[in-house]
Formats: sequence, C-alpha cells, structure tokens
Amino acid sequence: MDIERITPDDDAAVRTWAEIRSASAAHDAPWEHPLTETFARGELTHGWDGEPELAFLGTVDGEPVAVGSLEVSERDNLDLAWFSVDVRPDRRRQGHGGTVLAHLEAEAARRGRTSVGISCWDVEGLERFALDRGYERKAAGINRRQHLAEVDPDVVDALHAEAAAAAADYELVRRLGRVPDDELDAVAVLTASINDAPKEGLQVEDNVFDAERVRAYDVAQEARGFVLHRLVARHRVTGELAGQTAVAVELERPHLAEQHDTSVVAAHRGHRLGALLKTGMLQWLRETQPQIAEIDTWNAESNAFMIGVNEALGYRVMGRGLDLQKKL
Ligand SMILES: CC(C)(COP(=O)(O)OP(=O)(O)OC[C@H]1O[C@@H](n2cnc3c(N)ncnc32)[C@H](O)[C@@H]1OP(=O)(O)O)[C@@H](O)C(=O)NCCC(=O)NCCS
Repeated sequence: MDIERITPDDDAAVRTWAEIRSASAAHDAPWEHPLTETFARGELTHGWDGEPELAFLGTVDGEPVAVGSLEVSERDNLDLAWFSVDVRPDRRRQGHGGTVLAHLEAEAARRGRTSVGISCWDVEGLERFALDRGYERKAAGINRRQHLAEVDPDVVDALHAEAAAAAADYELVRRLGRVPDDELDAVAVLTASINDAPKEGLQVEDNVFDAERVRAYDVAQEARGFVLHRLVARHRVTGELAGQTAVAVELERPHLAEQHDTSVVAAHRGHRLGALLKTGMLQWLRETQPQIAEIDTWNAESNAFMIGVNEALGYRVMGRGLDLQKKL
C-alpha cells in the first residue's frame, strides 16, 4: 500500500477522503449522513477548533482503499495522539486497516507522542481490530438524535417555564455566528467547564481554552459549512456568563443540525440552567430555523444528568461509540 498525506487544497484527494469516510459510516452506522465536500475541506483545513488532523490516503495498485488521520494538539495533552482509520467496506479483512494504523502509530511516535487512541462504533468486529493491536476500552459514548417533528412544542415550553422559575436570576442571550470580541475570554471560561463532563477511563488531561481557541472554533465551524447558534445564560446581577449551549445548523442541508457543548460553570450549577439552555435553544431554532428536522448529539454513557435532559426532549438512541487507548 502507498500511504500519502492529503492536503485540503487537493480537491480530488479531499473528495476521495470524504467518499471513503462516508462509505465506511454507511456500512457501520447507516443513520449517519454522508460527508459533504464543504465539510471535508473545512475539516482538513481547520479541524474542530483550529488544529486540523493530518490525513492520509492508502492506495493499492492506484486504487484508493483506506484513509487515516492523526490528531495532535499543541495546547494540551502533549503526549497524546488520536487516530481514525477507515477502510472501504469492500476492501476490509485484507490487512489494509492494520497497515494504516501502523503508519499512524509510527507518525505519532515520530512526533514524540506516547499515548494513542482510536474510536469506533460498537459494531461487530470493529473493537476487535483495536483490541488485537493492544488498545483497551476506556470510554463509551451514545449518539442520540432528536426528530423535531416528534417534539411537542408545548412540552418544550412547559419544561422551559419550569426551569426558568428555578433560574430567575439568569437571562438567556442569543449569539449567532462568531462570539463578539469582548466576550471571547468569558466564553473561554464557559467552554472550559466542559472538562467536568465524565471522561470515564480515558487517560487524558483537561483541555485548555482561551480566547484564541474560541475564535478558532467559530471559524472552523463556519468553514465546515455550519451556522453556529450559541445560547448563553447570564447572571442578571453580576453580568457573569454562567453557561452555554451551541447548535450548529448545516447550510447545504439545513434540515440537519448538530448539538455541540452544553456546559454550566461550577459556581452556577443547581439552578436548572442545563434544561433552561436546551429548551431555550429549541425555542430559538423553532423561531428562526423551523426547517430543522434532526439534531444529533453525543454524551458519555455515564453522563446521567445530560441524558435525562435529552430524553425528556425526545432524543432517541442511534448508536454507541467506543474509545480505546494504549501506550506506545
Ligand atoms: C476496523 C477497520 C479499520 C479494519 O480494517 P481492515 O482493513 O479490515 O483491517 P485488517 O484487515 O488489517 O484487520 C482486520 C481485523 O479486524 C478485526 N475485524 C474486523 N472486522 C471483523 C468482524 N466482522 N468480525 C471479527 N473481527 C473483525 C479482526 O481482528 C480482523 O483480523 P482478521 O481479519 O485477521 O480476523 C475497518 O473495519 C473500518 O474501516 N471500520 C470502520 C472505521 C472504524 O471503526 N475504525 C476504527 C476501528 S478501532
């Protein structure tokens, strides 16, 4: 197999990367939507928040059969590298996945990373691939999808009113697109409270957030083809930002949306702000983005609180993902 780096300025390679990722997902998680070219280019240019993955294409006799990626951060977790490997469904069990993973491990070692991880759907055989190569299961996450046609607006409004009664000291502020410059530091503090979400057995450090990283996230989401809707809870007396939730709405397929982080800073917990934010977001989207049909979300399997909020809002389980890790 020839393994070469893919860069986002190579249109044909970007398309192939998206095709192989989409074919792989269609096989293991058929509810997933194919990756768009916009997403693929944005992802390979900006990643999630400004640190793009290194992407590789594996070719056998001129035929693209697999893609792999390696994500490392220079902001935190300086020992860690996270991989993905996808082999075209019709070319699996021929050793290609193992070849790509070995290449990624060598690249990670070359960069001085000693702790490596990989994620997969909890589907027959996929975890075995990583277990056989020395990885251990460290965490499980659940992908849920909310079908908005099934969500009763009266239920959302009633839950919102109930939460608002317990959160009378807070007001909700809507932020569309990029965070204003003068709020970047405060939003970085909000974002950092996501570190309190369960990590289960993952051997990872807290992520470090600052204004630059918040801005990089906004820019990356735009480049991937999404309009960010960020709802912030603000303490009325002090003006402090207490919590946030973000939903990204896809521009090319505006019926699709993704739930990103919901977090409340520790000092402001216990006032039903999580429920206030999630229901407030649904009210905002109902007003301005009524065409949205689906919102996807991920939670750690052990995150009982967020899952409780989501179930009350009609989310349904689509699939279970696993995170595995090992030392190099
Ligand atoms: C996991 C994946 C990368 C493996 O690619 P591959 O080209 O089939 O990998 P290899 O041929 O090198 O190794 C296959 C090994 O995976 C495991 N495996 C894969 N599918 C399996 C299945 N249906 N049942 C049991 N074991 C399976 C076995 O250990 C198998 O070894 P074997 O063929 O000698 O029995 C591929 O299935 C894929 O793209 N999956 C979707 C993306 C993903 O989940 N990637 C991360 C996995 S941790």
